Amino acid sequence: MAENISSIDNFSPASPIGIFDSGIGGLTVAKAVVEKLPQESIIYFGDTLHLPYGDKSKETITTYVLRIVDLLLLQKCKLILIACGSASAAAYEEVKKHVGSKALVLNVIDPMIDFLDKNYRNKRVGLIATKQTVESRVYNDKIKLLNGANIDFTSMATPLLVPIIEEGFAEHEIVDLVLKEYFSAPELQGINALVLGCTHYSVIEKAIARCCGPNVKIIEYLDIVASKVKEILDSRGLLNKSGNAVDRRFYVSEYTKAFAEKAKMFFGADVNLQLFS
Ligand code: DGL
Repeated sequence: MAENISSIDNFSPASPIGIFDSGIGGLTVAKAVVEKLPQESIIYFGDTLHLPYGDKSKETITTYVLRIVDLLLLQKCKLILIACGSASAAAYEEVKKHVGSKALVLNVIDPMIDFLDKNYRNKRVGLIATKQTVESRVYNDKIKLLNGANIDFTSMATPLLVPIIEEGFAEHEIVDLVLKEYFSAPELQGINALVLGCTHYSVIEKAIARCCGPNVKIIEYLDIVASKVKEILDSRGLLNKSGNAVDRRFYVSEYTKAFAEKAKMFFGADVNLQLFS
């Protein structure tokens, strides 16, 4: 997170929160933010032209992400939330550097690490996420740095899930078939909790919970990240107390039916998708 905000004059409490992802996954986080902070304006960007991010290199993801960040800075966002596990893993440090003191920056991984530290010490915790997130080992590295947490951490890339979700098959039986195959892997046996490390996975949370059974607690970014957004804005006097003229804007880099449907499902029929490429 950008710590030095004393020189910030780009925004005020009434400024919007910028939220982005490769596609519809971040909408789940955006919804959680709006539920927690209904008086805040948000600008959401879904980089549908370039998804999936999770199979791409750190460099490629960073290039895409910095363009989005520039758009959000132009809109004078007070906080930029990287609502994407893959982009958080690949590009967070670059984004922080790029943004400097022009806005606050939050990724989804750090709040999750704090949550695990507080709630899952001495437990076995699994993570499913994209290849980028898993192979970056950012979760492993951050968990290792926790003092005495003793979390037995295991992770597995589940790259088929994002295309299935983006193609509109979230309710199809194919989801259960793919999950069954993934969850037979040795990595995910004996876990107490499972972190959904890709924001898309919240769309199929029920199927995942069904597949894992009642003994595995499913942990999603949603409220954990939304609470962190609130805490950060509050601690800096940047919560929008007035709630007048709340604005919700949605940009995509390519129009897709799945995105339009999900955005309307989450935010109501009046969602007006704007193309930005
Ligand atoms: N929702 C994203 C994530 O959290 C990106 C998935 C993708 O585009 O591969 O990782």
